Amino acid sequence: MSFNLENIISIRDFSKNDVEYILKKAEKMEPIARSEKVCHEKDGKLLGVMFYEPSTRTRLSFETAMKRLGGDVIGFGQKQGTSVQKGEVLYDTAQIIAQYTDALVIRHDMEGAARFIADNVDVPVINAGDGAGQHPSQTLLDLYTIKRTRGNLNNLKIALVGDLKYGRTVHSLVYALAMFNIEMIFIAPEELQMPSEIINDLTKMNCKFTQKSTLLDNLDDIDVLYMTRIQKERFPDPKEYLKVKGQYTLKKSNIEGTDIILMHPLPRVDEIDFDVDSLDNAMYFKQAFYGVPVRMAILDSVIKK
Ligand code: CP
Repeated sequence: MSFNLENIISIRDFSKNDVEYILKKAEKMEPIARSEKVCHEKDGKLLGVMFYEPSTRTRLSFETAMKRLGGDVIGFGQKQGTSVQKGEVLYDTAQIIAQYTDALVIRHDMEGAARFIADNVDVPVINAGDGAGQHPSQTLLDLYTIKRTRGNLNNLKIALVGDLKYGRTVHSLVYALAMFNIEMIFIAPEELQMPSEIINDLTKMNCKFTQKSTLLDNLDDIDVLYMTRIQKERFPDPKEYLKVKGQYTLKKSNIEGTDIILMHPLPRVDEIDFDVDSLDNAMYFKQAFYGVPVRMAILDSVIKK
């Protein structure tokens, strides 16, 4: 098995072999991620992180991953305090940090930002989320979570719920799920359904999916329930957000006693009641931990010796 991608920009750049390569490598990284083993694989290497949008999990798990591999990290988690505040453009900032480091991780509100930077710098670039576009490392950790929990990625039925219009996690994830024998149900208010270009792509790929608007009467036979937050910050008109806010809230009784695996890329707002956390079904905190071995696998694959 080999991995030949230089940059991690979109899950659509991945072959099934590339996906499986990362998932396999992540398994080997788990003891290091758990601090049971020490690794010096990336001693002396530096990762640059550039986060123009807020993040907890993605930035900190990339930083953890790089340090667990023996490397180190520089960069910023917000624009404040950088020369972006003096008007420096993304291109220039990336050129500079690329000269100091061996790879860049970038999150930006502009769709296509990571691809643009990858085309213009001499180090590998990893997309940590570009507007409503893609979030490929999240997708890989989502797949890893499903595989670790269910044992495989085939013959599953997955419901994706919430903000399917603006959610980059689901925009990435569906293309990866389409590589496997997985049936999808898209549950969202009409205004937040999966964009038509993605629906067209999935249709061309002969993918099995349905679109629904209610949650509780569509949970039969579901293996994985993937909840998402309605993303207030992406609505051009706040009044439109208020119309759809709080439409889906999962209660403990909705999945207690079932085999449904409950996932969420997080952060959550009001989609999952806090008492759901005590159920064995609730996988979202473990899912966030799996971000570390998966991102270790990604960094180890793109940062050469
Ligand atoms: N899942 C995810 O992308 O979380 P953060 O926004 O906290 O990085």
